[in-house]
Amino acid sequence: MDELIRDILRRKASGGGVTVRGWLRTARHAKNLSFLEISDGSCFAGLQVVAGPECARFEEEVRGLGTGCAVEATGELVDSPGEGQRFELHASEVKLVGGVDADYPLQKKRHGFEFLRTIAHLRPRTNTLGAVLRVRDGATRAINDFFHARGFVQLHSPVITLSDAEGAGDMFRVSTLEPGNAPRDADGEIDWKQDFFEAPSYLTVSGQLEAEIGALALSRVYTFGPTFRAENSNTSRHLAEFWMVEPEVAFCDIDGLADLAEDFLKSVFRQVGDQCEEDLAFFDKRVDDSVLSTLAHVVDQPFGRITYSEAVEILQASGREFEFPVGWGADLQSEHERFLTEEHFGKPLVVTHYPKGIKAFYMYGNDDDRTVAAMDVLVPRIGEIIGGSQREHRLDILKRRIAEQGLPEEHYWWYLDLRRFGSAPHAGFGLGFERLVQFMTGMANIRDVIPFPRVPGNAEF
Ligand code: 4AD
Ligand code: MG
Repeated sequence: MDELIRDILRRKASGGGVTVRGWLRTARHAKNLSFLEISDGSCFAGLQVVAGPECARFEEEVRGLGTGCAVEATGELVDSPGEGQRFELHASEVKLVGGVDADYPLQKKRHGFEFLRTIAHLRPRTNTLGAVLRVRDGATRAINDFFHARGFVQLHSPVITLSDAEGAGDMFRVSTLEPGNAPRDADGEIDWKQDFFEAPSYLTVSGQLEAEIGALALSRVYTFGPTFRAENSNTSRHLAEFWMVEPEVAFCDIDGLADLAEDFLKSVFRQVGDQCEEDLAFFDKRVDDSVLSTLAHVVDQPFGRITYSEAVEILQASGREFEFPVGWGADLQSEHERFLTEEHFGKPLVVTHYPKGIKAFYMYGNDDDRTVAAMDVLVPRIGEIIGGSQREHRLDILKRRIAEQGLPEEHYWWYLDLRRFGSAPHAGFGLGFERLVQFMTGMANIRDVIPFPRVPGNAEF
């Protein structure tokens, strides 16, 4: 394989023959000279190609090239006299590989993100989406590196499941039965025993319960996969399909978990900052001018740590008029979270010890009998980026919690078994990967940090 533009631009010196292939970002035809900017997506920058009459096919082909064409250019790499690039290619030959119809929707002008979502098959070719996709990749690597350096084993949790990991009920059903023609039982109800899995089955909302199985055998595991929520939230921070990173650690309590979350975010930010410098500089310049300062801030500053009760006191003392009332026992809304992390603390914040009434069945019950060892990490602009907890590892208490929440105990038989056979304290969290990418890039809408967003009313592409 030939060198990518990324590798060419990293060369120590100009000189030598080079062939590049990619798509034209721009084509400018001056008198007797054509300037073509080729991008192959391997890095933010493109390579400028200069072609004159000595270039093969100059009149017949090169002069007709326009934005979007797939081309192959061969020539000599020379130092660029122009600003903004070290090298350029003086072409001896430029071949058209794939032409572009006149209605190519990506023209040189800036397009709105909303419009770009309607052409998700072409938007990876834009500066912004290209940079987003490279940052996603960089963050993926940083996450894997972080865990592997600390002895975590990646566990592949299933996408199809019978159990509701969050007990929140917003799951997508998986079935091969024909709607309208499903077999019925004696009571006239749909007979799920005749369905593919012989039971009602769903797309998973979280890999946590299986990650707990892994942690209680391999000590430290993490999952990194797609998760699904059928909540009808049309917001800039919710997707119906999103990627979640879920570490689970045996012999760990809530304080150890908060330390892990802070270390984790700092380490991922540091590595992405180093490896995606050009892309992040672009976001800072064109999307949100706080991207680079936020990055430095996350890496350098210790996160704040407070309990839910302290959060409620701060909110009540703030003198702010919130849309949703603040009171002990009510869940924190995004406006509250953002006030705390953006305005009051001005940095990422770990909130622990939430009321048990608003949290999932599996969270460890604290001695006060009203709070659980839950943990959310809140960050400016986004609000909740991580949710996690120490897990309830005591069988009797867990059973009581399942009953209290009206969940069917028989669905959780294997989860309960883990509390009968070598139970141990353990804890874990889930990071919403797209929210992390939003936070890093400054992108306002979560639909623009995933290549193919799934949201209410839309699963195209
Ligand atoms: O807080 P959540 O619901 O926690 C869990 O699912 C736990 N089982 C995780 C664990 O302890 N292993 O979700 C975790 C994170 C949230 O903090 C948020 O960042 C993200 O997942 N998230 C979403 N991201 C995009 N779209 C949605 N609809 C999301 N719902 C949650
Ligand atoms: Mg949560």
